Amino acid sequence: MSSYEPLVREKTKARIAVYPGTFDPITMGHLDIIQRGLTLFDKIIVGIAKNPSKQPLFELEERKEMIRACFGPDEERVEVDEVSGLLVDYAYRRGAMALIRGLRAVSDFDYEFQLALMNRRIEREVETVFLMTGFRWIYISSSIIKDAARHGGDVGGLVPDHVCERLRERFMT
Ligand code: COA
Repeated sequence: MSSYEPLVREKTKARIAVYPGTFDPITMGHLDIIQRGLTLFDKIIVGIAKNPSKQPLFELEERKEMIRACFGPDEERVEVDEVSGLLVDYAYRRGAMALIRGLRAVSDFDYEFQLALMNRRIEREVETVFLMTGFRWIYISSSIIKDAARHGGDVGGLVPDHVCERLRERFMT
């Protein structure tokens, strides 16, 4: 057996990454990260995870639906799932080699650094990969979009059209 064989085998395994977040709701910034991630990985699992410090506006099923609606039925490389328990345990179970996190500004770094190191401490086989958000999206977050929409601001172009519609419905009632 050649000593190169394990490396070759590693290379032929599907490269799966989990992109976790609250996605309340998904924004163009998140979509930008998913598109970039698809150039590096064979499959991305968009994992809706629980952040105990957040009280989401949209139910889990609504968030899932909104993400799914961004991709046609033919886009088999993007899966949307719910993550319960530890993120790295989920990633390991799903055979993912990496977690993707988007960075917008230096202010994201402290928290992301902490999260990545803690995740690595728990599970060494899952790497964290940081991708830079496109310049157009560096100032947006789900909260700022919800806040603008709540007060009647136009968030068109910052979220997909169907998400814009959901926000409008939610804040009209
Ligand atoms: N474009 C636009 N907005 C972006 C963005 C991008 N590219 N990247 C991040 N954001 C925004 C998000 O919209 C979110 O905004 P909000 O705070 O207004 O909701 C914010 O930046 C960051 O949130 P998000 O990416 O959703 O992550 P989070 O901090 O809510 O989630 C988890 C963190 C869910 C990944 C983390 O809590 C977790 O891993 N939970 C599972 C349990 C676990 O394993 N815990 C141990 C961790 S060591």
